[in-house]
Amino acid sequence: MKKLILAIPKGRILDELNPLLSRVGIIPEPDFFNEKSRKLIFNTNLSNLEIVKVRSFDVATFVKFGVADLGVCGFDVLEEFTSPEIFSVLDLGIGRCRLSIAGNKYDQLNFDKETDFDVFISNSSHIKIATKYTEIAKRYFSNYGIQAEVIKLNGSIEIAPKLGLCSYILDLVSSGKTLEENNMFELKKVLEVSSYLVVNRASLKTNHQLINKIIKIFDEKK
Ligand code: PRP
Repeated sequence: MKKLILAIPKGRILDELNPLLSRVGIIPEPDFFNEKSRKLIFNTNLSNLEIVKVRSFDVATFVKFGVADLGVCGFDVLEEFTSPEIFSVLDLGIGRCRLSIAGNKYDQLNFDKETDFDVFISNSSHIKIATKYTEIAKRYFSNYGIQAEVIKLNGSIEIAPKLGLCSYILDLVSSGKTLEENNMFELKKVLEVSSYLVVNRASLKTNHQLINKIIKIFDEKK
């Protein structure tokens, strides 16, 4: 029988995900915890489950195409990616942060409250914003009747307004340290984010029993 594949995101989320995997009873091979290892696919103590470690957006791609049966995916990625092939089954309550619009610190003088920013954008005809989340940004501003000029960046977004690429960014905020250290100010929260257990729709049908068992254990141990 083909092994099930669980795709999980690299990075900070692992600090919260590793203890959860352990509670669930999924123990990856030692290389999984070795930051120097370049390995990407890992065996686990379960003979029918392997783990792949990929970038957060790629979790959604692997699950969408069914090459990963299960995944751990941020709500930010799910909202950006919207695919009927990806079935969000469980909020794991980890990776909590927010997706927010931020600007240079001097904007704070004009926008003390989130409502001030709402008023400001309602009266704007044009917004230039840099983000990884181009779909969410377009949707957000089109709700205000604004055609935003959305510039795609893949990381270090906070540098964009400094260099004059845009006036605003849409990015994840967790501790707020990155904004603070780059002299930026959070203007408006767009989305509350946490990580979800997701399943490929076809895989859920094919491996109904096993996947439902996994979902149940995650639900009990989260
Ligand atoms: C994320 C995000 C912000 C930062 C926010 O970046 O894009 O830059 O974390 O976290 P903070 O509020 O706790 O400072 P990440 O470190 O994942 O790297 P990236 O810039 O490559 O996306």
